[in-house]
Amino acid sequence: MNTTATSDQKVVVLDFGAQYGQLIARRVRDLHVYSEIVPCDISADELAALKPSAVILSGGPASVYAEDAPKIDPGVLELGVPVLGFCYGQQIMAVTLGGTVGHTEKGEYGPAPLTRQGESQLLDGTPDEQTVWMSHRDAVSEVPAGFVVTSHTDVCPVASMECPERKLYATQFHPEVRHTPNGNDMLSNFLFKICGLEADWSMDNLVERMVSAIRQKVGDDRVILALSGGVDSSVVAALMSRAIGKQVTCVFVNHGMLRKDEPEQVEEVFTKQFDVDFIHVHAAERYAKLLDGVTEPERKRQIIGTQFWKEFFAVAQKLDGVKYLAQGTIYPDIIESGARKTGGKASTIKSHHNLIPFPDGVSFDLIEPLDHFFKDEVRALGTALGLPDHIVYRQPFPGPGLAIRIIGSVTPEKLGILKNADAIVREELDAYNAKLFEETGERNSAHSCWQYFAVLPDIRSVGVMGDERTYARPIIVRAVESSDAMTADWAKLPYEVLARISSRIVAEVPGVNRVAYDITSKPPATIEWE
Ligand code: XMP
Repeated sequence: MNTTATSDQKVVVLDFGAQYGQLIARRVRDLHVYSEIVPCDISADELAALKPSAVILSGGPASVYAEDAPKIDPGVLELGVPVLGFCYGQQIMAVTLGGTVGHTEKGEYGPAPLTRQGESQLLDGTPDEQTVWMSHRDAVSEVPAGFVVTSHTDVCPVASMECPERKLYATQFHPEVRHTPNGNDMLSNFLFKICGLEADWSMDNLVERMVSAIRQKVGDDRVILALSGGVDSSVVAALMSRAIGKQVTCVFVNHGMLRKDEPEQVEEVFTKQFDVDFIHVHAAERYAKLLDGVTEPERKRQIIGTQFWKEFFAVAQKLDGVKYLAQGTIYPDIIESGARKTGGKASTIKSHHNLIPFPDGVSFDLIEPLDHFFKDEVRALGTALGLPDHIVYRQPFPGPGLAIRIIGSVTPEKLGILKNADAIVREELDAYNAKLFEETGERNSAHSCWQYFAVLPDIRSVGVMGDERTYARPIIVRAVESSDAMTADWAKLPYEVLARISSRIVAEVPGVNRVAYDITSKPPATIEWE
């Protein structure tokens, strides 16, 4: 959604389909200036209405001369607002203003040595020779009238150009990526020296900005939200609560396969701390019936997912006057499902996110207030809204819950065992992570566990307890280090931590007589067992 307020300073990024176009907006926000992204085909009038303090043109995969190449309304460059273009952004600026773009002989991908030439406001204070990150085959061959070339590489004669009189600046390289070590200085030059902006933006401003945008959009209408208790939906719930109070109904579908004490914690936060209309759907028995005897992992997922929306819409259809469905979609979800909002130009990687199976005759308008933001920004927003750390820093938890951590069929007995064993794993590893956080000051330091839980396999083994033979269940402990779940390594936990987890589980969880630790990375394994 558009979180625009009209009076504050704001940098608007025009997205030409860069795979990570939001990274530019993100870098600007990291420098404490508010930034948001809009599709590249925005007209100059529409853009002017947003009252941007500055405009940045992103990169993009197209060739400027290709038939379907995204264009820019030339009026954007005439608004009198400073404009900075990166990569495709430089090329489109050049051709729009009468310059030319051609193929370079070899193309340039990765780090490239850059040499500055002449004066440059944009590169001011950065070394004469420096490394920049390039990713292009085309490049500007002739700059438009009034522009000067401010740097080059062996392959690229116009690595950057500027026309200070018209406040137009551009680079062929990517200052927004960390592999351009001086990129942040260039962005600072643009924002603070060239545009004269102030670094006055913070999470609190953002909360205010989002709250007023939500109020403006929703008016007197009602909003419904599927609250899972995860970070994203909880932050949306907290935000909605701040903006529109009881006009939002949070529907919490409890399928009975959440972790120990989790449903109670979610209910506590959203009934005591936040003023929303909270509906707790106790659906455990219905799910248990549906899952009875089901052993195939994908079938479990399918049953749980389908039933979730049935439960949700059964409630939603009973409520009067609901116009909007709020969702905690965040920016990486959009990237994974192909850029839906940002011009639709980035190529699709996966398409499974956020497809809502609306029943016939039911539809709501979507509100997705987090769709510009990265996970760590969402967490910071959650903290600014007053959400407790146990929600804000909650580890990822799959939608199908413990059902995919019980190998084979799900029964109440197995669920009980797994919940208790899992609670011990989490308690011990929460403490381990907290100790690392205290020592390093980093929440996700090199050895902290990113995701950790217990798994209940469908076997039994022999043991001996108090002179008695036992034939009981093992528990598998899974703890991984990761940053994005795409790859993961098993956590090299200290033996004493593993020993404590093992002895506590066999002592405290009836029915378990053995504990094993999964020492497989992803790939070849996955994080979950099913
Ligand atoms: P895998 O097991 O594929 O998991 O390595 C990667 C990440 O995704 C989570 N996961 C799921 N999340 N529904 C979800 O919402 C699912 O069906 C599902 N399966 C796996 C997993 O917990 C890990 O963080």
